[in-house]
Order: sequence, then C-alpha cells, then structure tokens
Amino acid sequence: MKIKYKPEELTRLPRSVEFREGKVHIIDQLLLPKEFKVISLETVEEVARAIKTLQVRGAPAIGATAAYGLALLAEKSKMENKEKFLDEFYRAFEVLKNTRPTAVNLFWALNRIKDIVEEHREESLDKIKSLIVEEAHKIADEDVEANLRMGHYGAEILPEGNILTHCNAGSLATVHLGTVGAALRVMHREGKLRLLWVDETRPVLQGARLSAWEYHYDGISLKLISDNMAGFVMQQGRVDAIIVGADRIVANGDFANKIGTYSLAVLAKEHNIPFFTIAPLSTIDMSLKSGKEIPIEERPKEEVLTCGGCKIAPDVDVYNPAFDVTPHKYLTAIITDKGVVYPPFERNLKKLFE
Ligand code: MRU
Repeated sequence: MKIKYKPEELTRLPRSVEFREGKVHIIDQLLLPKEFKVISLETVEEVARAIKTLQVRGAPAIGATAAYGLALLAEKSKMENKEKFLDEFYRAFEVLKNTRPTAVNLFWALNRIKDIVEEHREESLDKIKSLIVEEAHKIADEDVEANLRMGHYGAEILPEGNILTHCNAGSLATVHLGTVGAALRVMHREGKLRLLWVDETRPVLQGARLSAWEYHYDGISLKLISDNMAGFVMQQGRVDAIIVGADRIVANGDFANKIGTYSLAVLAKEHNIPFFTIAPLSTIDMSLKSGKEIPIEERPKEEVLTCGGCKIAPDVDVYNPAFDVTPHKYLTAIITDKGVVYPPFERNLKKLFE
C-alpha cells in the first residue's frame, strides 16, 4: 500500500489527545459543537473521569488516553521506592481499566504498558518510568500511522458516491484522522466522496455533535439525518455504501459498535448496500469467539431522558445500552491497518495475526 498523503494534508484538526509537560491534553468532546476547547488532565482520577463521562470517547482515543494516564503517573509520582511505585501503578491501572467495558482498545493499551513494566521489573525505577512514557507515546503515534494506512485501504475499496456513517469514528474518536474519518478524508481529497450522510446517533448525538462538526470543519459535503431517516434514504437509492467504526471485533467477525449500527446493517442488506467496518488491529479481540461474549456497557438513564440538557420524557424506567453487536453475516469486509479482510472472517482474521 502506497501512502499518498500526510495527516496534515487530510485534516485541519489537531490531535485529540496529547501528553506534554506531565499533563494529558484532550479536546473536550462534551463541549462540541458549541465550543472547541483543549483541557488538561493532571491526575489519573481526572483521566478516568474524562473517559467515563465521554469528554474523550471513541475506542482508539480511549486507549491512547488511558495509556497517557499511566504516563502521567510515571512523570508525576513522588514515590522513590520501586515497590511502592509499582503498587501505585497497579492501582492506577485498575482505576483506568474500570472506566468503560466495551472498547477493547482500552484493555489492549493498558496491558501493553503493564507488559513493558513487567518485562523490565528488574531495571531502575527511573528506567521503568521512562519506558512507560515512551510506550504511551508509541501507542499514540502508531494509532495515527494505522489510521493513515486504513484510510488509504478504505478509499480504495469504497465505491465513489454517497456514503453513510453512524456515530463518530472520526479524528475525535482516535488520536488523529479517525478510522472512518481517514477513509472519508482520503476519498474527499481524491474527489470520490460526493455526499456524506451523517446519522445523528441518539442518545448522546456523537453523529450530530461530533461527526457533523469535524467533517464540516474539513470541508466535506454532508447531510445530517436523524437515525430513523436512514432506512428511507437507503430506499430512495441515495446511499452507495455504509461505513462504521468498531469498539470490538471478535474472532468470527461479529463486532460491537455504537447502538444503532445493527439496524443499519440489516437495512443495508435489504437494500443491497455494501456495509463495512474499519478498525485497527488493536480493536480486534481474538480471545472471544462470537459477538455474544462482548460486554455491552449500559449508561445512565439521563442520556435517554434528556436531549441537549432538556428533559424530553417523564421520569420512567429506561434501558440504555451504549453499543450493539452486528453479526458478521451483514459485513461486506473489515478494513484494517494490515489490509482488507473478506469472508470467511474466522479464517481470514486469524491470518492477520500470523
Ligand atoms: O460511546 P462512544 O462514543 O465511545 O462510542 C464510539 C463508537 O462506537 C465508535 O464508532 C467506535 O469507538 C470506533 S471509533 C474509531
């Protein structure tokens, strides 16, 4: 795969998460689209809270932010005794691990740092601390490189025309560029993206607040629709392909993504529209055999009872799963940073890791 563009040729946005001067800097995604503000997080607890409350969200962004949470601890810790520092490290690891259950990138990133610490347990405390920071930066940089590769693969196989997306798998959901975001940006750059349909994505409105904002900011021509309009737009023949991100893809190709993805996949099949997911290898969890095993996060009822801070329903009982699972039979292909995977997914996903 020949990489034709640099990240700065594809987006005007800065990275969504960075680590500088002992602080984790994130774009506060709860303030968008009203306000673009970078905030700094100074403790592991602040990082965990930002992940839980969705100030930073999207599977790869959550992973990189958590890794930087451990980097922050390594730079800030006052512990001069190695064993005491390691106790503190494992406590922070647990706090970050218990923020959100579905996106596997969180556990992947935290475990990558834990493995480095355990491999170098005999080294000096200073060395261990600097290895933690180094690994966190690697995780973030590799995410950008993976997105760039996926973007090129995606733009090659997506049909020219009108594309529909759900939730936000754009730059904001990753360290930079996005997964879906990278593919759309390469297509846009090459004049292959006629129109982007953006699902608003109730209840938290990641499509309306974040995707519409970031793609519009980069000059991509789009139309925002409420989720219940997607079927009609497909029936009208105005969608050439659908592409969504993923929070966890398992060994047989089933995948969890933002609630509403499954309905889109079923509708796409009815209308013969190709349906893709795009994600880095860090989103693939080969330890689970089928989508039934993926833990699905349930979020506070206020997300459903309110919209933009206004109450829109009486105080009744609510069911609020943040994700759903799409069976692999609905997928045309999975776009990864190591290439495009076609059915049979069980066999072909395995090959990626060989
Ligand atoms: O609850 P969120 O906003 O973290 O959910 C995000 C999604 O479902 C994205 O599609 C997924 O994380 C992929 S991001 C590249």
